[in-house]
Amino acid sequence: MSQTIGHTDATENDAARVRDSKYVWHPWSRNEVERDRLMIVRGEGSRVWDAAGREYIDASSLNSTVGYGNEDVIAAATEQLRTLHGVDMSATNHPVAGRLAEVLAGYLPESLSRTLLLNSGSEGIEAALMIASCYRRITGDPRNRVITFAQGYHGSTVLTRTLSGLVPTGHPFQQPIEVTRVTLPLPAAELRTPEAAKVLAAAFAEALADGDAPLAVVVEPFLNVGGGIVLPPGFLTELRALCDDAGALLIFDEIFTGYGRTGKMFAFQHEGAAPDILVSSKGLGGGYAPISAVTARQDIYAAFADDEIIGGLRYGHTTAGHATACAVAIATLGVMERERLVENAEERGRELLKLIEPLRTLPGVVDTRGLGLVGVVETADMATAAALVVSCQEHGLMVRQQAASVLVCPPLTLTSAEVEEIAERITTATRALASEQSTEQSI
Ligand SMILES: Cc1ncc(COP(=O)(O)O)c(C=O)c1O
Repeated sequence: MSQTIGHTDATENDAARVRDSKYVWHPWSRNEVERDRLMIVRGEGSRVWDAAGREYIDASSLNSTVGYGNEDVIAAATEQLRTLHGVDMSATNHPVAGRLAEVLAGYLPESLSRTLLLNSGSEGIEAALMIASCYRRITGDPRNRVITFAQGYHGSTVLTRTLSGLVPTGHPFQQPIEVTRVTLPLPAAELRTPEAAKVLAAAFAEALADGDAPLAVVVEPFLNVGGGIVLPPGFLTELRALCDDAGALLIFDEIFTGYGRTGKMFAFQHEGAAPDILVSSKGLGGGYAPISAVTARQDIYAAFADDEIIGGLRYGHTTAGHATACAVAIATLGVMERERLVENAEERGRELLKLIEPLRTLPGVVDTRGLGLVGVVETADMATAAALVVSCQEHGLMVRQQAASVLVCPPLTLTSAEVEEIAERITTATRALASEQSTEQSI
């Protein structure tokens, strides 16, 4: 006989688990240990509920801008699905893409006003590299070397994972482009000073000079998958100047940091050092629809008129610029503006950072840091970070492991009371883990 637990029928829940273990291949997951992962069945605001009815604050979603169940976004998506769900933009047109691209241009410097809409972050970086390479070829200065952070992550396609030096993102194919990777010259905890900006800029200057003429520099303004690394103030400005000197295009990967996450609409706006190509994604669709945006300098776009085969961009996906995803994005940005969510991210982020700082004194914690509404607890090693994620889950908080760090990234709609709840839950979880580990050591 079936029994109702929380919001789901127990039999149905068991059936869902069986189906999952039999038929589903999870991305970026180990085969054998992931089957008891949370089965989330409902979300509202900053909270989700699992199949057993347990409630969690979700501070693990890299996409979440407006939280779960936002009625404005749901209404916009529903209306768009009824009117015109989508058409292939390589063959025809619809009005929603233009409206979104215009809104995006309004947030950016005047020169950055031409947007290619795609589905995922990886596609966005892939397209940005194609655009950079074709632009150089079309303008008579072909180049093939890209400079990145060794600890950077830019996606899971072959070209984008070629950039990363992180071990799990390697690939078995030949290198399609030459990549020079810059290893962080200092530990993350020592990277937040103006002096560190000089050291880091010097490392990039060396990489730019060391080899063939550079095509582009691709960096995240905050390293997400590499371990939640806050870069030193002034670094992006120095990097902009270095790229200008070397004739390299500067591409910012704001797939995670864009749309308010760091307390500015885009993270590069903390300094005002604008890129030549900006790639954004996650927060734009708020998790409600897959969408990414590659926004380039208008003159880069104009150069493609001289492409020898089609006189334009030879890149696209059938669902790129999907009308429903565009409608979701416009609605998401509307909510963000009306509810001042960028400012809220900055204010709540400051509160969170202050409240997690005392965790530094606990065993196993190496550093706490943050930028806007992303809090980082760096632990001693990856195993400790993984154990902390589990401990947080046991205390009603979903967080995300990135390398040896745990990232706290709640929706930007978070309230001060919820900041306190998160701090309380992660503190209890860290203490519980520390005492569990000290008991294990004394046995
Ligand atoms: C900085 C950064 N770049 C690129 C990506 C890849 O985006 P997607 O998973 O949408 O392909 C991610 C995803 O986590 C990311 O954080």
